[in-house]
Amino acid sequence: MSTTTPLSQHDLIALEDQYGAHNYKPLNIVVASAQGSWVTDVDGNKYLDCLSAYSAVNQGHCHPKILATMLEQAQKVTLSSRAFRNDQLPLFYETLCQLTGYQSAIPMNSGAEAVETAVKLARKWGYEHKGIAANQAEIIVCENNFHGRTTTVVSFSTEADYRKNFGPFTPGFKVIPFGDLAALEAAITPNTCAFLFEPIQGEAGINIPPQGFIQGAIALCKQHNVLSMADEIQCGLGRAGALFAFEADCTNRSQCLATKQCPPAGMQCCRPDVVILGKALSGGFYPVSAVLTSTEMMSVFTPGIHGSTFGGNPLGCAVARTALQVLTDEGMIENAATLGPWFLKQLKTIQNPKIKEVRGRGLMIGIEMTEKVRPYCEQLKTLGVLCKETHDVVIRLTPPLIISKADLEWALERLHQVLA
Ligand SMILES: Cc1ncc(COP(=O)(O)O)c(C=O)c1O
Repeated sequence: MSTTTPLSQHDLIALEDQYGAHNYKPLNIVVASAQGSWVTDVDGNKYLDCLSAYSAVNQGHCHPKILATMLEQAQKVTLSSRAFRNDQLPLFYETLCQLTGYQSAIPMNSGAEAVETAVKLARKWGYEHKGIAANQAEIIVCENNFHGRTTTVVSFSTEADYRKNFGPFTPGFKVIPFGDLAALEAAITPNTCAFLFEPIQGEAGINIPPQGFIQGAIALCKQHNVLSMADEIQCGLGRAGALFAFEADCTNRSQCLATKQCPPAGMQCCRPDVVILGKALSGGFYPVSAVLTSTEMMSVFTPGIHGSTFGGNPLGCAVARTALQVLTDEGMIENAATLGPWFLKQLKTIQNPKIKEVRGRGLMIGIEMTEKVRPYCEQLKTLGVLCKETHDVVIRLTPPLIISKADLEWALERLHQVLA
């Protein structure tokens, strides 16, 4: 098979199936290019992207400013390793910390790596600051969590398929039902170093915890000297209509935003001690992830203790910095906050007894049905709308945050056609 003449969609799929691991079951559309909210396949067909690479392209595909930064930086220097300093990492740290209000960051590449980093940070803090006896540290996690695919991370997954035949697993994790404060309190012991949670569970089907859960969990953590760690890899960076999804639980939000202080004097803070970011941190151009926390907690990482060859590389840092800038400068978070509730309301008008629930926050929406939804996703694809099932029965709708109302109306027409 020649690779110099353009291959057909059929040939490309055959090639991929022949040589590649079959660890995904993608819809059969072969993307050749993309711009903004739209992608084009190898035959020139256009589709509205309502998945955004699992929320990695919140800024829209091939955002021109991020692209310009990438091209410019790629011509200067791409990788220095952390053996030397580079001129992009300090600027990335500054932008990230000033935007988020956290004091210190550690850069990684994939989301799972950042979660691993947070687990290591929490354990080390537990031994060195909290005084937990050697190898006794426990981290509490939630049922139906999704934090990535490394061996330690799947050790605390509750999804049988993600674990099957991958043991032996990393010990030291306790599972509680998502959203259950009483269970969290009961699970905390003197050996608990952290509580790790997704403010909205994306992969599990856009599960939103009861109002007050996040703030309550953070208060419990403070009371018991346990680190609260929010995995905002999928739900953060504007996706849920706020910079962080955990902000939805903040009863002082307007004051915090107005004073740029969290919390205002005398109030309990609803910010987690640790935040984990990935995906949209680089607008889909490059794998960049990070863990954010206080200078004090970050001090557990001393030279040689943790690292990654590509983590903090100048190309990734430059790209991520622009990705953060366009997110805020171009009103993408506000767009998600405005269009998300409108889109959700429209979706709720679809009449179909097989729809169990339509739920979401911002532009992170799930349509749960009483049957497998893959055929619906296939039909939507033929009509030009790209979305994907999660956990068989939920259609996940997470369009880029730059999407226009007109494009959402276009998608709605097709969703009505397929689902009603
Ligand atoms: C909440 C959450 N955490 C972690 C990850 C893992 O990120 P990555 O696939 O970049 O390793 C994901 C990926 O979907 C995620 O949604």
